[in-house]
Amino acid sequence: DLTPSTGGGGAAREVEAVGVVGSGTMATGMVEVFATSGFPVTYVARSQEKVDAVAAKIAKNLTRKVDKGRMEQADADAVLGRLTGSLERESLADVDLVVEAIAEEIGIKNQLFADLDRICKDGAVLATTTSSLSIADLAARTKRPQDVVGMHFFNPAPVMKLVEVIDQEHTGQDVLDTVVELCKRTRKVPVRCSDRAGFIVNALLFPYLNDAIKAHEAGSSLDEIDAAITAGYGYPMGPFALLDVVGNDVALAIEEELLAEFGHESLTPAPLLREVVAAGKLGRKTGEGFRSY
Ligand code: CAA
Repeated sequence: DLTPSTGGGGAAREVEAVGVVGSGTMATGMVEVFATSGFPVTYVARSQEKVDAVAAKIAKNLTRKVDKGRMEQADADAVLGRLTGSLERESLADVDLVVEAIAEEIGIKNQLFADLDRICKDGAVLATTTSSLSIADLAARTKRPQDVVGMHFFNPAPVMKLVEVIDQEHTGQDVLDTVVELCKRTRKVPVRCSDRAGFIVNALLFPYLNDAIKAHEAGSSLDEIDAAITAGYGYPMGPFALLDVVGNDVALAIEEELLAEFGHESLTPAPLLREVVAAGKLGRKTGEGFRSY
């Protein structure tokens, strides 16, 4: 139940400062969401270039809003003033809640959660935006599994309303309440999901995206399929436009995860998806995916 509980030790924890780990598409989007909602945000990246790229991308998005008359320049400046980029995870010692969006590799994520456990103050919420790994496994890397929760944002994070909220066996009710409250303050829509491969959205979305690639392999063009889906379903983007936004490497990883968990032959990634990933055509982020940008 995502209604904040009253009493019973379930009251939301106070969140004033937020931390984000990562500098990719999702991390950058989340930093923008939190800073735009008034939170000071400390984000940790692996190089100064990446720290600068996050701030530059957010500045560009804000400039677009100012140019469209949707935001005052002074407010845009205030958002940028709330950003603190860092190369050290130790800078997260005082944040009330941290969300990580680093590479979807179990070894790297496990090490991160061990680090957060060591570094973050008592009572900090440790959230992950993993879309393919088990939240319970990550919680087990800490001595405070009650603080560990999934907060799965969607791409582009500044625009998409949904946050899937995933609890595991030990997640505290107060932690769930804190996440719900944070979603409210950032104007997101929280939906609770069980800790199962793909949660809700990806478990439904990626079989469809995979089938779209198979339809293309069977002869329909990218444009025909995208046009059919946007005009026929009313989706904002066709499957190939969306794959290039999500990233073909991300799509492949999610499909492999779904296949491993559910075992249906139909979930086997389309050969063409493996080919574009092997060729480095990952989507908009590399300038080429199913289409060129
Ligand atoms: N960052 C920040 N803002 C962005 C943005 C981005 N990357 N892309 C678009 N926007 C903003 C625009 O600035 C614009 O804002 P204003 O109205 O304030 O000017 C607004 O979004 C609408 O954008 P556009 O008019 O340029 O374009 P659009 O109407 O075609 O919308 C879209 C773009 C929101 C991306 C829309 O096409 C869409 O909803 N696409 C589907 C996206 C989707 O399905 N995402 C889920 C992917 S699955 C996932 O993320 C899960 C996972 O684990 C992989």
